[in-house]
Amino acid sequence: MDSVTTLVDLYRGNALAFLPATRDLGRLREAVQGCQGCDLYRDAAQAVFGEGKRTARLVLVGEQPGDREDLSGHPFVGPAGHLLDEALAAAGIDRSLTYVTNAVKHFKWTLRGKRRLHQKPRQDEIEACGPWLAAEIEAVRPEVLVCLGATAAQALLGRSFRVTQRRGELIRDTGLAPIVMATVHPSSVLRARDAEERRQGRELLIENLRQVAPFLGHGLGKGAG
Ligand code: URA
Repeated sequence: MDSVTTLVDLYRGNALAFLPATRDLGRLREAVQGCQGCDLYRDAAQAVFGEGKRTARLVLVGEQPGDREDLSGHPFVGPAGHLLDEALAAAGIDRSLTYVTNAVKHFKWTLRGKRRLHQKPRQDEIEACGPWLAAEIEAVRPEVLVCLGATAAQALLGRSFRVTQRRGELIRDTGLAPIVMATVHPSSVLRARDAEERRQGRELLIENLRQVAPFLGHGLGKGAG
């Protein structure tokens, strides 16, 4: 990436038309509520933008907000968020010093009885949302970017990226951040078939997060955010 090419120039999905001219996190967060870059805004309560320190050295990217996130407006506050908090703490990483976001900003769901069940976003929806994620990464400029699951990894590293084959790899020279790593999504750990599989999934998530902890520096934050 040369000095005049921005990340947003590389992820030119339909949301681009809704990005503000000045792309600081505050303006981006306001503007995302008006995004109609794909149809997902129609059935979601609100857009859920990333949250955390502007100066965070670590950005974590999930797939899309879930039911709780959609209702509250905050990322990773439901069951997957609790597991993520636990895994970060076990890896010695303080979530309050990170920036947490999603590849897709609106909840995609289908009604089953009275429950709104998560639906995987389509490729065109992921691509449409790309400019918001690129703008967040550009605003925070983290040292380490962790993709939680295949949607985030493929949104940032390309559709041929396989988390199953490359999880835990420290990837350099992506132009996204000095170090990029993909690991499993906490929801996949929660979906495990039995307690033993869940324990193993949780351990692997923690192990991958531990791998990036040394790159975050003492106390993580680069300063007040
Ligand atoms: N799953 C995600 O990918 N993101 C959230 O914010 C919550 C659940």
